[in-house]
Amino acid sequence: MDLVIKNGVIITAEETYKADIGVKNGKIIEIADRIEDHGAEVVNAEGKYVLPGAIDAHTHLQMPFGGTVSADSYEAGTRAAACGGTTTVFDFALQQKGHGIIQTAKERDKLCAPQACVDYAFHVVISDLRPEILDEVESAVDYGIPSFKVYMVYKKEGLMADDGVLCQLLQKSKETGALISVHAENPDLIDLRTETYLKEGKTSAWYHYMSRPEFVEAEADKRAIHWAKSLNTPIYIVHLANKEGVEEVKRARDMGFEIYAETCPQYLHFTNEVYKREDGRNFVCSPPMKGEESQEALWMGIKTGDISTIATDHCPFQTSEKDWGKDDFTKIPNGCMGIENMYPYMLSEANKGRISFNKVVEVCSLNPAKIFGCDELKGSIVVGKDADIVIYDPEKNFTISKNNMHSDVDYTIWEGVKLKGYPIMTFSRGKLVFEDGEFLGQPGWGKFIKRKRKKLL
Ligand code: URP
Ligand code: ZN
Ligand code: ZN
Repeated sequence: MDLVIKNGVIITAEETYKADIGVKNGKIIEIADRIEDHGAEVVNAEGKYVLPGAIDAHTHLQMPFGGTVSADSYEAGTRAAACGGTTTVFDFALQQKGHGIIQTAKERDKLCAPQACVDYAFHVVISDLRPEILDEVESAVDYGIPSFKVYMVYKKEGLMADDGVLCQLLQKSKETGALISVHAENPDLIDLRTETYLKEGKTSAWYHYMSRPEFVEAEADKRAIHWAKSLNTPIYIVHLANKEGVEEVKRARDMGFEIYAETCPQYLHFTNEVYKREDGRNFVCSPPMKGEESQEALWMGIKTGDISTIATDHCPFQTSEKDWGKDDFTKIPNGCMGIENMYPYMLSEANKGRISFNKVVEVCSLNPAKIFGCDELKGSIVVGKDADIVIYDPEKNFTISKNNMHSDVDYTIWEGVKLKGYPIMTFSRGKLVFEDGEFLGQPGWGKFIKRKRKKLL
């Protein structure tokens, strides 16, 4: 035994109970009322909760986007993840024109592997679908990459997939066991509305929201779900942020379709009011934060199980880059931060009584592991799984500030947000990578996770 975590209250998606945990060679090898340490390192977790590390299934680290590169490198992003109790990160690898799927993932891995402080995987964004790429999906699944993403937006950026591309990929996913994720917003409406506001001289951050309000997102959610239902394939909607979308997901799931929705902590905490603030441009992301009704529907969707996962869409930019859009919202690079905030924020909401701790573990750890095919290793505290473990102090109060975060970004949208309870230790495969506010891990520690998906519904 290398490590024994004693006297803590273990919380998984299904259970809450007091037990000791034994760890050897990075794996959980024993869970029992009492484990003798026999000289192993001992962590006394009396009065603390012991949780599986979170899985952030949606990040954009050092990604070329919005005329620059997102501000957290793989090192900074995964360091921040570890300090917020996230022990696995799924990053998006963007396919370049003419490149293959596995080539795309391998090129990204060359950048990521020497920097990663926690384990990681890639979803490949398909932006150049050709017959060879469709044929390659099966090899990519066999290689351990069974998840792909298409953007229904970002036409000018050269990333957009039309409905034909989406449907070909959905069909292929049925044949291969892959899962297609979509960023769902209607690109034509966004362009039309944006042009109108600019012509009228309406250029503040509020018009970022106005150019893509609730119904612009809802239409694309409904269209994506329509294709998935028609072709009888699974689909995963990333960063869902509107009420009608939640209702459509619920309808489809109630009919028995394998439809998954993810939302993000920023949509659960902030509303579109942020775009009226002086620093509104710092909150510019797509889809934008919505009104209170949507926010309530998202919380309800989590409670009913219609929203399956929480992830961050971590894609931060520095203040100076956000400032490009001071006088024109279309020049603001789209994206916000959250990689260090997701688990602490959701756990704090549980600690305040909004949802159960088990539900937080379900949506932040177990469900992403199952949906994206790494649940043999991750997502719970069970003998045989990786010892990705967070020790959480429910009594520790914490106020988020740029100064106590661990990323490379010079501000945080979460500044001043008060949390009840906070992670005090994070273990990645049994190695202590975070303790009491301090990062203790090392770049290069994180491993690429090969995955295999199972149909769930
Ligand atoms: O505004 C966002 N979300 N930026 C990152 C790219 C994406 O759409 O996920
Ligand atoms: Zn997106
Ligand atoms: Zn994203």
